[in-house]
Amino acid sequence: MVISETLRKWPPAIAADRVCNKSYLIGDKEGEGVKLYPGDVISIPIVGLHQDPDYFPNPDKFDPERFSPENKDQIQPFTYLPFGVGPRNCIGSRFVLMETKAIIFHLLSKFTFEASPRSCIPISSDETGFTLKPEGGFWTNFKPRK
Ligand code: HEM
Repeated sequence: MVISETLRKWPPAIAADRVCNKSYLIGDKEGEGVKLYPGDVISIPIVGLHQDPDYFPNPDKFDPERFSPENKDQIQPFTYLPFGVGPRNCIGSRFVLMETKAIIFHLLSKFTFEASPRSCIPISSDETGFTLKPEGGFWTNFKPRK
């Protein structure tokens, strides 16, 4: 739940893209809308969807309970896309979720984590580049457990 919520708030891939191979209308009932043509490039705003209050109420709140067994069915399909979507979604998603849990387990068994004087508090995004990262980078103190 914590990892899922972390990937909602700070998806490492902020967008996915696709090239249209068939004309298509994203339309309303009157037939008006956005026309797509073969060759058009479509950007799917992963981070925008994850921060949309229509899909994730109170989106700034870090709330792992969104992903609890009782709540996760309320997430609308195709609004939570940390690993993309469809036949070209991330091939490494299951591996990386297992790896991340194993790493956190081993680190927590040996250390407690504490803010460092260089930690960015309150956290704010570095606006350079295409990945989400805190201003000044990632800084955490690891304190060995006794
Ligand atoms: C937290 C870690 C990761 C995140 C958030 C992530 C996210 C993504 C996203 C958003 C895409 C594009 C999906 C789309 O366009 O629909 C992607 C594609 C891909 N990812 Fe990951 N990824 C992660 C880790 C990994 C790892 C560990 C591997 C390999 C072991 C991997 C291998 C790939 C490959 C090969 C593709 C291209 C798949 C294709 O085009 O068919 N990823 N990933």
